[in-house]
Amino acid sequence: MQGLRPEILAGIPDDMYSIVRRIEDSFAISTPDLRKLANHFERQLERGLTMDGSDIPMNLSWVMGYPTGKEKGRYLSVDFGGTNVRVCNTLLQGREEDFQMTQEKYKLPVHLRSTSAEKLWDFVACCVGEFIEKHHDECEGQRNQTGRMPLAFTFSYPVTQTSITDGILQKWTKALSVSGVEGNDVVSQFQAALDKRKVPVQIVALVNDTMGALISSNYRDPEVKISSVISTGCNAAYMEDYRSITKIESHFGPDQEASDRLMGINTELGAYDNSRNMLPLTHFDETVDRLSAHPGTQMYEKMVAGLYLGEIYRMILIELHGLGMISPGKDLPILERPDVIDASFLSVAEADMSRSLDEIKDLFKEKLQMDLTPDEVKVCRYLVELVGTRAARLYACSIAAICRRMKVTTCRVGADGSVFHKYTHFKERSLHALREILDWPYFSEDFVTFHNAEDGSGVGAAIIAAMALEKQGGGTLSPKAGF
Ligand code: BGC
Repeated sequence: MQGLRPEILAGIPDDMYSIVRRIEDSFAISTPDLRKLANHFERQLERGLTMDGSDIPMNLSWVMGYPTGKEKGRYLSVDFGGTNVRVCNTLLQGREEDFQMTQEKYKLPVHLRSTSAEKLWDFVACCVGEFIEKHHDECEGQRNQTGRMPLAFTFSYPVTQTSITDGILQKWTKALSVSGVEGNDVVSQFQAALDKRKVPVQIVALVNDTMGALISSNYRDPEVKISSVISTGCNAAYMEDYRSITKIESHFGPDQEASDRLMGINTELGAYDNSRNMLPLTHFDETVDRLSAHPGTQMYEKMVAGLYLGEIYRMILIELHGLGMISPGKDLPILERPDVIDASFLSVAEADMSRSLDEIKDLFKEKLQMDLTPDEVKVCRYLVELVGTRAARLYACSIAAICRRMKVTTCRVGADGSVFHKYTHFKERSLHALREILDWPYFSEDFVTFHNAEDGSGVGAAIIAAMALEKQGGGTLSPKAGF
C-alpha cells in the first residue's frame, strides 16, 4: 500500500512478522479497489440526489449559489460541533479586505453530550447571552427592526431543510446523543431557548460546517468549488445543478425560477456504504462500530475520521496483546479504556521517522504506561502507518467521486479539520491516492489541489447570513425556501 515503510520491520521475529502481514492485508486497498470504491461513491452521490433514504443523504442546504464576494457587514454566528460552542461576531468587508472577528469558545460539558434537548439548547443560548453581554458595545449596532441581532447557526450534523431557516435533525453522529432532538427542528428548539433567556437574537440561517467552508473558501478564492471537513467526523459539500436534484420536485413541485441555478449540497458522505456492500471492513472496524455511540451508522466516517482512528488502533493493540505479541504476560487494563488513544497520538507516532523510534517509545510509556521492546516498537510504529494510510486512501475516494460528479478534471478543494491539517502525511497520502484513482499522468502536477479552508463555521456562516438577508432585502427574514 502506498506510503508504507515495511523496512521498519526489518529483523523482527517471524511470528510477529506474519501477524503484522495478516493485519496489513486486511488494511490494504489496492488501486483497482480504490477505483471501485470511488465509482460506487459516485453512483451513491447521484442516488442521494434522486431519492430519500439513500446511504448518502445529499442534504439540501438552500444556499443558492456562490457568494458574490461583495457581502459585507457584521454578523453573529454560533458554531456547534459537539466539543465546544464557539460564538463569533464577524465583520465582513468584501473579498478584497480581511475580515475581523471577535470570538469566544465555551467547552460543552461532557454530561451535556447525552442530556435532554432543553438542557442542551439552554446551555448554547446561555453562551450566546454571555457573549453579547461581554461584547455589548460591538454587538449593539447589529439589531434589526425587531430589535434582534441576526445570527447564523452552524450545526455540524445531518439535517433535512425545507428552507435556510429550518432543519430537522435526521440523526446524531459523532459522540452526541441528546434526547428529544432527532426528528425535530433544531432552529425552533434553539430559538425557543434564546427567547426564553431573552437573548435578543434571531436565527437567520442554519449552516453545516462543510457548507460554511465552501462559501468562505469560495468568497476568498472563487476557484474553490468543493469543501471537505475531516476532523472528529468527515463530510464534504459542493454546488449542484438545481435541475439534477430530482428529489426536490417530488417534495416541492417544479420551481421554474430556481431551475437554472445552483444549490449547495451538504453530502453527509460519512454515511457512505452504511449498507456495507463495498467498504473493506475489518473485524477491528466492526468492534469500533459496535462500541460507538451510534452503531450501524456512519460506516465510512468510522474508517477515516479523527474520533475513530485511535479506537481502531486500540483494537489492534488489544489483539496483539491477546496473542502475546506485545507486553506478553503483563496486564494492560489501560487498553480497555475507550478513547485512551486519540488521533493526535497516532499522528505523533507517525511523525517519528528516526531509526531509534525513541519518540514513539516515550509516547507509549507516557500515554499507555507500556514499555515496548525494540521489536514491539517497530511493529506498533508500522501498524500506525496502516491505520493512517488506509484512512487517507479511503478519504481520497470521496473527493474523486465529487470531482467526477461535477465533471471537473481540475479543482481546488477547501479542506478543513484537525485530521487534514495536523495528521502526519494525511494530505500527501490522499493526493497520491487521488492520482491513482483519477489516473493522472505519471509526471503531471496534481490536478486536484487542497487549500486551507477559511473558517467556515465562523466566517462562512456570516457570509451565508449576509446572503440570506440580502435576498430578503435586509432586516428580518421570513421563513421561505432558499434565498
Ligand atoms: C456530521 C457532518 C459534519 C461532519 C464534520 C459528521 O459527523 O454528520 O454534518 O459536517 O461530521 O464535522
